[in-house]
Amino acid sequence: MAQLPPAAVRERGLFNGRGGHGARRAQGLDTGDRDPDGHIDLLDLYAPLLAIGPDCMVAHLGQSLDGRIATASGASHYVTGPEDILHNHRMRALFDAVIVGAGTVRHDDPQLTVRLCSGDEPVRVVIDTERRLDTGFGVFGDGAAETLLLTAVDKAASGRHGNAEVIGIERWGKGLCPAAIRKMLTDRGLRRLFIEGGGVTVSRFLEAGCLDRLQITIAPLIIGSGRPGIVLPQVESLSDVLRPAVRRFRFGADVMVECLLHE
Ligand SMILES: NC(=O)c1ccc[n+]([C@@H]2O[C@H](COP(=O)([O-])OP(=O)(O)OC[C@H]3O[C@@H](n4cnc5c(N)ncnc54)[C@H](OP(=O)(O)O)[C@@H]3O)[C@@H](O)[C@H]2O)c1
Repeated sequence: MAQLPPAAVRERGLFNGRGGHGARRAQGLDTGDRDPDGHIDLLDLYAPLLAIGPDCMVAHLGQSLDGRIATASGASHYVTGPEDILHNHRMRALFDAVIVGAGTVRHDDPQLTVRLCSGDEPVRVVIDTERRLDTGFGVFGDGAAETLLLTAVDKAASGRHGNAEVIGIERWGKGLCPAAIRKMLTDRGLRRLFIEGGGVTVSRFLEAGCLDRLQITIAPLIIGSGRPGIVLPQVESLSDVLRPAVRRFRFGADVMVECLLHE
């Protein structure tokens, strides 16, 4: 996939279907460069992601100016605008698996399928350490795509959770070991991994050094309270913080900042 990124983007169907040229042009997503008018070049955005290598893990969060991804009650529809929602669907189409935490399933009951552009469905992966989610959530019963439920090893006894296959993973602090999750998925042939939230999940993978890229779309709203995006252990000095190289893209009224964590 690394050898011909533009062709790979086309092959994965992002230039066709409901999110195709006409739709993109109508949304102002089809032409121009990253700046300054809010247009994005799809190859400029997506081809480097395909060129990272055969194995990669990219996370995304959409947040307010004050760093919130949802209200305190968990409402997050929608923090960011339609361009960012479309971007999430394109990312699903380009990646082998889409990963979310238990909190996101509990609050959003998301389908995690590719609907706004064409492309293959990614395998859906839900992380729920203590296996608290019941089988009534859509991902466990709708049969729309292959689904994996990752729990602590001691909670994985029965191999199925609704339609989902249950896989036990070793614990790491309060949750599951991010590196073990990445290795298990890669060993199953799921090599391109997209984490779609929420904040706890993305933060754990970032803290564990598992992410190749982190995309944060910032929307011009101030929630003032609610669920945070990235939360990491405290540092004493600003010399101890992450200062990654970044790429920036205008998504309509929002700005997406992509952090290049291993480059
Ligand atoms: N704006 C956005 O981009 C966006 C995206 C997604 C979701 N959301 C919103 O964000 C909220 C949910 O986010 P959240 O941060 O509260 O929760 P979350 O990240 O969706 O889920 C957190 C839970 O997932 C499990 N988990 C995640 N990573 C784990 C790991 N490495 N090991 C073990 N367990 C892991 C844990 O479950 P246990 O505690 O059971 O162990 C943890 O409490 C919802 O309101 C949703 O609507 C917003």
